[in-house]
Amino acid sequence: MKNRDKKEKNVKETREKYLKLKKEIDTHNKLYYDENNPKISDEKYDKIWRELKNLEINFPFLKNKESPIQKVGYKPNKNFSKIEHTYPMLSLENALNLDEIKKYIEKTLRYLNIKNQFIELTAEPKIDGLSISLKYKNGEFISGATRGDGQIGEDVTSSLKTIKDIPKNIPDLKKINLFEIRGEIYMNKEDFLNLNKKREKNGESLFANPRNAASGSLRQLNKDIVKERKLKFFAYTYGEISENISFKSQSDFLNKIKDFGFPTNNYLQICNNFNDVENFYNKIEKNRSNLKYDIDGIVYKINDINIQKRLGLVGRAPRWAVARKFPAEKAETKINKITIQVGRTGILTPVAELDPVFVGGVKVSRVSLHNQDEIDRKDIRVGDTIKLQRAGDVIPQVISVEKNKRIKNSQKFLIPSLCPCCNSKTLRKKNEVAIKCTGGLKKCEDQQLGSLEYFVSRDAFNIEGLGGKNLKKFWKEGFIKYPYEIFYLNKYKNDIINKDGFGEKSYLNLINSINEKKTIPLEKFIYSLGIPQIGQRTSNLLSKHFKNFDSWFESIKELSNNNSKTHDQYINIDGIGPDVVDDIKIFFDKEKIEIVNKLKNALNKINEYKSIKTNSKLSEKIIVFTGTLEKMSRNEAKSKAEEMGAKVTNSVSNNTDYLIAGKDSGSKEKKARELNVKILNEKEWIKFLV
Ligand code: IVH
Repeated sequence: MKNRDKKEKNVKETREKYLKLKKEIDTHNKLYYDENNPKISDEKYDKIWRELKNLEINFPFLKNKESPIQKVGYKPNKNFSKIEHTYPMLSLENALNLDEIKKYIEKTLRYLNIKNQFIELTAEPKIDGLSISLKYKNGEFISGATRGDGQIGEDVTSSLKTIKDIPKNIPDLKKINLFEIRGEIYMNKEDFLNLNKKREKNGESLFANPRNAASGSLRQLNKDIVKERKLKFFAYTYGEISENISFKSQSDFLNKIKDFGFPTNNYLQICNNFNDVENFYNKIEKNRSNLKYDIDGIVYKINDINIQKRLGLVGRAPRWAVARKFPAEKAETKINKITIQVGRTGILTPVAELDPVFVGGVKVSRVSLHNQDEIDRKDIRVGDTIKLQRAGDVIPQVISVEKNKRIKNSQKFLIPSLCPCCNSKTLRKKNEVAIKCTGGLKKCEDQQLGSLEYFVSRDAFNIEGLGGKNLKKFWKEGFIKYPYEIFYLNKYKNDIINKDGFGEKSYLNLINSINEKKTIPLEKFIYSLGIPQIGQRTSNLLSKHFKNFDSWFESIKELSNNNSKTHDQYINIDGIGPDVVDDIKIFFDKEKIEIVNKLKNALNKINEYKSIKTNSKLSEKIIVFTGTLEKMSRNEAKSKAEEMGAKVTNSVSNNTDYLIAGKDSGSKEKKARELNVKILNEKEWIKFLV
């Protein structure tokens, strides 16, 4: 290969790697910040983040405004009004070990042109909650906001007002026009455990850890619920403050605000050398599991506030602080049994039943082993002693098997060839990791119950009163086997009323909430069926394409009759790939088609797909984006346009109504001019949205 070709190939590979990592970080940012539902550990996240950052450092041409490295947090959620931060709410630079703290100090001293070996630091625990800004006007609490994307946060004032730890009126600050305190909202481990217990009992989804529970609770719109959640607060820095108040140092600041009534963390140490730095880290890490709340590291700050001011910020973090994170908490325990769970799609998941053990403040008694490959890779057997961690500290996972503690005569574990629920054969398809039960809905009760649970869940038919226990009860009684039977539950009125806990009134409430759902939008209907790979986005795409139930259902029947035209029609829907079409086809066997038909007949109406704003200026318009937008990402712009009824395509043609041209637009803009297509700049485009 010629040198130039080699170079081009390298650039291409680097760019691909960069985009892959960026996509991963974007996905995990959304899960963590917006959905309070992280799927990977902080350690794993930090690793990907560092990899991405190193790529940007080594290949600066990759960098752009969309890079998650340059950003803080995640854009504020649509359900809240917004508060713009006067000073950005930042993130912290991380150091992996003492050496990196030493490098940080050297760099800082160089920047300040100070010839010493050390500079006084404060050391504080890094609270694992969510950061918050609180504003006080003449001593009165007036508003509070989450960090959001660092510039604009979510207005959560009314939730914050329910939190006891937050002072609402501070006489000492009466003469201070504006005082903005920043700190962390968190939940005690015990309150988190109790909350999850209650949620489990009510059949609600569980929070992964106290941080998510705190974030989910604060962003609850029902204030009574927020109050019940017992959220707590620690203050650790300030934002915008009036000129007539100032502090000498971080420690002076913490002492004073404590007197004002703000809760501050008890563990504060001034460090005068690296020994202090290391000792504090070790002391707190050792004591970590005894604290009432989760912490995930230590934050070191330059103590002198004047020096802090000189240091300012760089990118997304202040130069005056650095965090050293703790490794994920680990624990050792024994596998007593490996059981198999059969999910709604028939996938068999092996689950290790453990001697219960506390990890990161949470009692863990089961851990998913995911699939056969994972079991083989780690060679996990019944009776083994394993090391596990609550990643992130999110979902527990097996790190490794302690082979030296293995019992004699232990056997390799194999996922069974017969389904433990219905005894049908199990099957592993070529190129797939999952082993599936072949019994289908008719035979396999676990699949039946799983798909019923999915069907009534919040994003699907959302039938209140059928979550958790009741559904299982009716299913066990044989009242409901398939989703459509939910709508005929009134046949069993007498049985239900005579059962425990079901008086006439609760029966009527249940039937009313079922009847309310007899009219449903097409996209929800499709989503509720639980077709593999068809989540909310894809069911939206399908309903948008087929518009009404009849034409969608017709296409399904054609697809299962192997009609190649329909197959092509599906593949041509923007956002739907061949593997998705295959999954749809496999899902709709004769039995499922019959079930869908019966479900349709049980309902009053399946509403046609309607774009959210049919009478908007963009309704039915065909638009193309080009160049870089500054105020929003291409993805956000695209989905805004689609919400307003526009169709977004990739290339300019005679049919294009508008070309939205951001910065550095190239050939598309030229073509649009040639074809006389109306061109909007970013400002004009934003005007369309309001
Ligand atoms: S000082 C960044 N002190 O950690 C601006 N932050 O991972 C100065 N955090 O966004 C923050 N405990 O939410 C500071 N004792 C502490 C902290 C702390 C937790 C959070 C904060 C920040 C995040 C960065």
